[in-house]
Amino acid sequence: MNILVTGGAGYIGSHTCVELLNNNHNVIVVDNLSNSKKEAINRVEAITNKKVKFYEIDILDKRGLDLVFKSNTIDAVIHFAGLKAVGESVEEPLKYYQNNITGTLVLMDIMKRHNVKKIVFSSSATVYGMNNVSPLTEELPLSTTNPYGTTKMYIERIIRDTYQADNEWSGTLLRYFNPIGAHHSGTIGEDPKGVPNNLMPFITQVAVGKREKLSVFGNDYDTHDGTGVRDYIHVVDLAKGHLKALEFTMKNKTIEAINLGTGVGYSVLDMVDTFRVATNTKVPYQIIDRRPGDIATCFADTKKAKELLDWETEKNLADMCRDSWRWQSDNPEGY
Ligand code: NAD
Ligand code: UD1
Repeated sequence: MNILVTGGAGYIGSHTCVELLNNNHNVIVVDNLSNSKKEAINRVEAITNKKVKFYEIDILDKRGLDLVFKSNTIDAVIHFAGLKAVGESVEEPLKYYQNNITGTLVLMDIMKRHNVKKIVFSSSATVYGMNNVSPLTEELPLSTTNPYGTTKMYIERIIRDTYQADNEWSGTLLRYFNPIGAHHSGTIGEDPKGVPNNLMPFITQVAVGKREKLSVFGNDYDTHDGTGVRDYIHVVDLAKGHLKALEFTMKNKTIEAINLGTGVGYSVLDMVDTFRVATNTKVPYQIIDRRPGDIATCFADTKKAKELLDWETEKNLADMCRDSWRWQSDNPEGY
């Protein structure tokens, strides 16, 4: 099939492009490179020995997108393009609503005009909010604590409403838990700008000597060692989940929200320890105050993904640590 991947130069998008190409799909990427580099696409091509059709276009650019749809026969869209920094979204909510929500409206409008009505969307476990208890099932009530999360919740709703009005649409709303790791080649991976917000890129930057030590945000949570527990998922498992979601979306005229996680939670200190053993590298850390807005525990119920997509994760936490480390140590400055 011919798949349009918005945000395909980004972390999860680039890994998904590899899986799509390896499964003989043609890949067309639209990315404005606001949080990525074209080099990621070059490396995807080197890994797969296949070509990607790349357009440096903003999804807010109606005319540009329209041209992409006119110049290519597109069967379905995997929609990754979006801004994702929680803290920045609190400081600049309009930027997030404009980019993520208006961007999706423009994209879906152009899709409709060209009669492309299949979409796989990058949602997030953040839509479960602060009050639900893990394991998190897809039918739980949604709530959010920051504009980033709210854009995900609204976009899910926009896709559902579009389907309500026209049952020719179908969509899969993938709620990712915590993606980490990198392709085993060590040539593509997560390349955060500035100080990383998330745990794994911070750990690898400490390990490679770019930062002095990890700050662990609180050790007084109600968890087995007091530090926060999350459901870390290898980005290659996650990328493979998109292929299954694509198959499902092509076959079924429906909208489904589906968790992509492992179903197992690990604490911050479990992660530090697993990283040390798996990579033979120490990560000095200090315990500091809790990060505002954090919850104690968050992990997925994975039954729906297994039942509807016939998908489960294959890689364990040590694999994730080793692959994150290979990417970071081979590319200390990123791309
Ligand atoms: P990323 O920033 O690496 O990738 C997003 C890509 O979208 C980037 O290449 C960026 O340049 C592009 N982009 C952003 N706005 C655009 C626009 N207006 N037009 C065109 N391109 C645009 O992020 P990622 O980690 O790969 O995340 C991909 C998607 O998954 C995002 O929607 C994110 O919110 C969602 N998600 C990510 C995580 C995570 O932990 N990484 C968790 C849950 C959900
Ligand atoms: C973050 C986002 C969330 C997003 C998710 C997946 C915030 C507030 N939330 O959540 O919206 O869906 O990533 O990408 O950013 N930790 C430390 N020290 C650090 C970094 C993290 O101790 O330097 C701890 C955190 O307190 C948490 C765990 O490590 O317990 C994981 O943190 P992180 O990687 O930021 O993911 P989430 O908290 O799940």
